[in-house]
Amino acid sequence: MTTVYTGIGELVTNDPARGDGSALGIITDAAVVVADDTIAWVGSSRRAPDADERIDLQGAAVIPGFVDSHAHLVFAGERSAEFAARISGQPYAAGGIATTVGATRDADDAALEANVAHLVAEMTAAGITTFETKSGYGLRTEDEARSLRIARHFTTETTYLGAHVVPAEYRDNRDGYVDLVCGEMLSACAPHARWIDVFCDRGAFDVDETRHVLRAGIDAGLHPRLHAGQLDYGPGIALGVELGAASIDHCTYTTDDDLAALAASDTVATLLPGAEFSTRARWPDARRMFDAGVTVALATDCNPGSSFTTSMGFCIAVAVRDMYFTPAQALWSATAGGALALRRNDIGVLRPGMRADLAVLDAPSYIHLAYRPGVPLVGTVVAGGVPHR
Ligand code: NIG
Ligand code: FE
Repeated sequence: MTTVYTGIGELVTNDPARGDGSALGIITDAAVVVADDTIAWVGSSRRAPDADERIDLQGAAVIPGFVDSHAHLVFAGERSAEFAARISGQPYAAGGIATTVGATRDADDAALEANVAHLVAEMTAAGITTFETKSGYGLRTEDEARSLRIARHFTTETTYLGAHVVPAEYRDNRDGYVDLVCGEMLSACAPHARWIDVFCDRGAFDVDETRHVLRAGIDAGLHPRLHAGQLDYGPGIALGVELGAASIDHCTYTTDDDLAALAASDTVATLLPGAEFSTRARWPDARRMFDAGVTVALATDCNPGSSFTTSMGFCIAVAVRDMYFTPAQALWSATAGGALALRRNDIGVLRPGMRADLAVLDAPSYIHLAYRPGVPLVGTVVAGGVPHR
């Protein structure tokens, strides 16, 4: 089955060899041919080949589907009261995670699965065609393993985050918890996960604990990624680079040395505007990162505590307004950058042979994502060749 989408006013390919030659590889008056789940052809509307089905998009902009490389979707409950208290002055602390851990442990599998399905439907409607999601609200062997088993029903990008925080029952025995995370819990979780992650920050895990957990995960065949620099400066970013993490996420507090280390590596810095927005924290300066030569991704960090959004469009608008991304950098970071943060070479770029993941915007240009904040501009979303809506 082949479909040709014609009349695309502005097509963002993320292929610098095409169109205007910029990083976004923009082609105007473009067409795309999708064959089953793959992009078969990209070019000018006038030269579009025939296909089984022809859809005229009447001047709309089309972008690659968003790649959300950081989300925490397996949880129960919500924390709106904590949000309200914070917005009236209380600081964000990692301790709030315990509330969600309690609710998640108490929930049955069907409730957890339904919550993920609901959030995934929101993500798809918002143009996200690939997402990563983590455990980290179970913090007991059986609850971490079931979180990942459930996550696996929705995505191949699953991350074991047993080292999210130390749960209350191990408060006086941190080493015992780290041993559990690196031992029995890892063995139960590794079969369901691609990645291992640690929250390396004030109030969570220190650099020695983080090294220990990441190394154990790597030995078990998982690939490292990391939360670091959200709440404070620290050695986490250097450690992540040293261990070859695909991505270090948050990076709100970074030194020049951190940026130099990132720039000299193939580790991506993933910025999470929803977290700074919802915790009223300081903004990382993306301009400083781009100037240093760092590869930057944008992700939602969807979770019930620090960033309860599934809207990549919102993240782009905030990134442009408050983190000093240009609109082009923000779009690239939310698509091609996310793909690099997941070490995926089949998504994030619209080029023949890549997965047919794209979003049609109810706008003439991708710039409208930042220019019209809060407006649901994503129309039809094609994921693996399958149209939604
Ligand atoms: O990415 N930083 C750690 N984890 C989440 C917050 C989780 C929560 O507050 O429930 C984050 O922001
Ligand atoms: Fe997170």
